[in-house]
Amino acid sequence: MIRTERLLLRKPQLDDDLAEFVADDAVQRWIGGPEDPAALIERWVGRWERNGVGPFLVELDGRLIGRVGFIVWDNRTWETSTYDLAGAHAETELGWAILSSHWANGYATEAARAAREWIERDRIISLIDPANVRSKRVAEKLGARPTERVTTPHAEADVWVHP
Ligand SMILES: CC(C)(COP(=O)(O)OP(=O)(O)OC[C@H]1O[C@@H](n2cnc3c(N)ncnc32)[C@H](O)[C@@H]1OP(=O)(O)O)[C@@H](O)C(=O)NCCC(=O)NCCS
Repeated sequence: MIRTERLLLRKPQLDDDLAEFVADDAVQRWIGGPEDPAALIERWVGRWERNGVGPFLVELDGRLIGRVGFIVWDNRTWETSTYDLAGAHAETELGWAILSSHWANGYATEAARAAREWIERDRIISLIDPANVRSKRVAEKLGARPTERVTTPHAEADVWVHP
């Protein structure tokens, strides 16, 4: 569990309800959704079990407002993977998504900065659709810099490297 000035970041549990998160079209259009909330929470819990890192749920005053945290990719294919399977090709991505009713309050930046301080990895990236201006702004505010453009199975993305 991580506390920031305004937020609480905690590990997801199977009984967490992601219904509002998956129903938020303004969020889902950028992250490949929507999908079944039960399948999604299983995936998030599974990432923690496989990698020891994963997405944190972000809470404001006890209410779930998003998720910020880590996904492991294989940089040979730019598919999601695990540290074990990808080995030296593993990349740790820091990602963010906040309910659209709470945008532009600095929550994504605050939560992502705290997650980045928590993880013990030398290299952290963020994969960002070049058209996603809000997300690029978060990356800039965190001091990340765009390096190369890659093609994931879903879309083109710029690789932002964190300091
Ligand atoms: C990207 C996202 C997480 C940002 O969340 P947030 O809590 O609003 O982020 P912050 O408030 O920390 O920062 C957002 C910045 O974008 C800016 N912004 C908002 N709308 C913008 C627009 N249309 N054009 C340019 N910048 C914009 C805000 O002004 C703010 O910058 P500032 O602090 O310099 O003013 C949120 O928009 C989201 O969940 N989007 C959908 C999911 C997504 O895209 N995730 C990232 C996938 S790579």
